Amino acid sequence: MKFHIMTLFPEMVMQGLNTSIIGRAIENQILDLKAWNIREYTKSRHKKVDDYPYGGGAGMLMQAQPVYDTFLAVKDDLKMSHCRVIYLTPQGKLFTQTEAEQLAKEEALVFLCGHYEGIDERVLEEIVTDEYSIGDYVLTGGELPAMVMVDAISRLVPGVLNNEDSATTESLHNHLLEYPQYSRPEEWEGRRVPEVLLSGHHLNISKWRMEQSILRTKEKRPDLYKKYKKVKDNPL
Ligand code: ADE
Repeated sequence: MKFHIMTLFPEMVMQGLNTSIIGRAIENQILDLKAWNIREYTKSRHKKVDDYPYGGGAGMLMQAQPVYDTFLAVKDDLKMSHCRVIYLTPQGKLFTQTEAEQLAKEEALVFLCGHYEGIDERVLEEIVTDEYSIGDYVLTGGELPAMVMVDAISRLVPGVLNNEDSATTESLHNHLLEYPQYSRPEEWEGRRVPEVLLSGHHLNISKWRMEQSILRTKEKRPDLYKKYKKVKDNPL
């Protein structure tokens, strides 16, 4: 899967995503990550990418021209007739695990990261297909949200997680939180690992884990638990 990120801070995105599991998937060519520096596409002599908003108001806006020319370069590189272009903004649709599952089916995704007070509306109208927010708070730019989305989507792409990593993939899949996990030693600071996990009885272990997931969700995230209960055929 290809991720193309249009940003004023390409090194931030590349450094943030080029490590650990995502870094390994890039190295193994399962993922292709490219950050495009919007500043390189400005036609301004002084490499300017922002200007004052018409009508006044605080801060500066990213101008349409450098964003659009970056997009044309990405499009040329992608050689696809259509591709989703995601603008990161607190005004967007809330990004959830369900959205990640849908987006993971795409062959390529383009992300547009804003900075300053935003981007000239006309270029957004021209190129953006989807707007996403990662939560109801305001960040200084779209880079962190883009990185969050790339990470959550990538781990759903076949081959990115190996078997060891994928043990935790089901959390939230079914609107449930992960059950508690334990490693050696059997006793630490007087706390013992639950006996059922030492029993070797696989059916009992799965049942216990399911119960724990349900209990945890009910206690920690009643909002998720409601969603879980709405799904027919779920136990409890
Ligand atoms: N840009 C600034 N804040 C954001 C948020 N919460 N989600 C997505 N993009 C943003």
